[in-house]
Amino acid sequence: MERSAIKILFIGDIVGRPGRGAVKKILPDLVKKYGIDFVIANGENLAAGNGMTYETYKEMVLAGIDLFTSGNHIWDNKNIIPYLSDSRIKVLRPLNYPKGVTGRGITILEKGGKKLKVINLQGRVFMPDDLDDPFLAAIENTPSNNLPTLIDFHAEATSEKIAFARYLDGKVAAIVGTHTHVQTADETIFPGGSGFISDVGMTGPIDSILGVEKEIIIEKFLTQLPVSHKVASGEVNFSAVIIEIDQKKKITTRILRLNQIINLDE
Ligand SMILES: [Fe+2]
Ligand SMILES: [Fe+2]
Repeated sequence: MERSAIKILFIGDIVGRPGRGAVKKILPDLVKKYGIDFVIANGENLAAGNGMTYETYKEMVLAGIDLFTSGNHIWDNKNIIPYLSDSRIKVLRPLNYPKGVTGRGITILEKGGKKLKVINLQGRVFMPDDLDDPFLAAIENTPSNNLPTLIDFHAEATSEKIAFARYLDGKVAAIVGTHTHVQTADETIFPGGSGFISDVGMTGPIDSILGVEKEIIIEKFLTQLPVSHKVASGEVNFSAVIIEIDQKKKITTRILRLNQIINLDE
């Protein structure tokens, strides 16, 4: 049983330099402690909070991340965009962007004889982009003879996330939510065997608003005028889940929520 498990560490939206610093600091120990097979992280805020650069991507691959999922902010930094169509670059963008958009939303990870399919999709409720139906896209890409599959559902509304996950219960091994940067305490395994959490949360500075300097966001709410975001500093909240999947049954057997405060100066 133990030997047939696939152990995944999924890290919530990594925000800027502080987020990357926290990952570099604790990832090797976590991988060893829990016997992790695949490390996956949402990278839409990797470079200064907005999108990714090849340099920050490479830095995190060297730190031990096997694959990045993303979301609406992946387009914010033009540096990574030409790389999204290169199959050697382990970055997904949501699958349900219109046809013709660069990049891919599905991949298969393989390590030590273990295989995991990963799909990235984006929700449509309170989200900036008018994308194709994520429910339909998920069903179309999860045939009954599927590999064990994990979906990052990048969405704002908890109702949409829970509906999406319950709709797919038993068809995929796990569904994790990202995008809000606020971790929810509702990790569970549904009756059909799909592991789920509404939002994994962020890996970024705590004394902030969703990773951004708090004064900037308060100013935005007070004035409604455009503002430039700047990533905050200080202690980092490392937010993640560890998911164990039974390779044969293709269901989640355990989901463990992590929420750890990291002091980068220590
Ligand atoms: Fe994000
Ligand atoms: Fe997002």
